[in-house]
Amino acid sequence: MTCHWLAPDLTMSAPDYRALLSAALSFKRRYPLHTEGALRDRTIYFLFYNASLRTRSSFQTGLARLGGNAIVLDPHAGIYTPALPDAEIPYTTERVADVARVLSSYGDAIAIRMYGAPAGWVYGAAHRHLEAFAEWSQVPVINMECDRFHPCQALADVMTLREQLGGLTGRKLCISWAYSGSWHKPVAVPQSLLLAAVKTGMDVTLAYPPPFALDSHVMAAAAQFAGQTGARIRVTHDLRDGVTGAHAVYAKSWCSLNHLPQHSGEAVDEAGMHAVFERHRDWCVDADIMRLAAPNAGYLHCLPVDRGQEVSDDVVESPASWVFRQAENRLHAQNAVMAHLLNPGSLT
Ligand code: CP
Repeated sequence: MTCHWLAPDLTMSAPDYRALLSAALSFKRRYPLHTEGALRDRTIYFLFYNASLRTRSSFQTGLARLGGNAIVLDPHAGIYTPALPDAEIPYTTERVADVARVLSSYGDAIAIRMYGAPAGWVYGAAHRHLEAFAEWSQVPVINMECDRFHPCQALADVMTLREQLGGLTGRKLCISWAYSGSWHKPVAVPQSLLLAAVKTGMDVTLAYPPPFALDSHVMAAAAQFAGQTGARIRVTHDLRDGVTGAHAVYAKSWCSLNHLPQHSGEAVDEAGMHAVFERHRDWCVDADIMRLAAPNAGYLHCLPVDRGQEVSDDVVESPASWVFRQAENRLHAQNAVMAHLLNPGSLT
């Protein structure tokens, strides 16, 4: 059976996830001298429905250094846009079932980023698009961020936390919503991180204004994993309370699920979304907020960051900022994921 990488934060057991984390850290230590050729002559197709700097560059660079070939396909230009049956346009789109079978007859994996506008902003629609690819693909499908999960980011995040904090059991992570002048960031990053963090035994405080609650199914799954690992999950609607005593503060913006459409063809409630964002402009992590955290606590963000809105410049540029180590770890996390999926022996 083909092993896909769609929502590993949700589907992998906690021990398996921790084993992958250890393998990824080990793969990083051996990179690049002792990992060259790990994916020699393997080809992966990359489909980006949304913009990307880190994901695109790190996957392409990593695969090249492991000896493989990256072929980037733009779903909106140069190929027929892969579409599900209810969104087909003659000679403009091509059914996902057909694209998946064709690409998997040529190469070794298909990696996809899709969230937001390309899926009509209906929560879960982008994830279903990836699932449709996986249903028809004979080779692994890798989630490079959908509307529910960003597993490559989460693996890089917990790698960074492990490197900075050492053992993670019982360490306190605050995942906080933050204000941005754009409402377009999906909930994928906090949801994947919450699941990954509790699997490593971290105590997580989620801080957000009430309109920014995460998916209740993800919250329930996180609670279940926490029950297995002994991790604790706490929710607060007060940024200062959330940050107080934290060993790591991960503050970023995400959209309100309550203001997204329920069905295809419906519009985002942009006025309502804008209003709940503007009511919480003070949710910005600055040096005063960081002083509430534990001594030597770090600040994390997946990037791109909206400086002066999500976080102040001085925090991003301070020694407490771990954001560029996180970005670097995207390369190493994804190298390990590609090796794990295409050539499992190379991870041991
Ligand atoms: N963090 C992240 O996924 O960055 P990009 O959007 O640049 O890929």
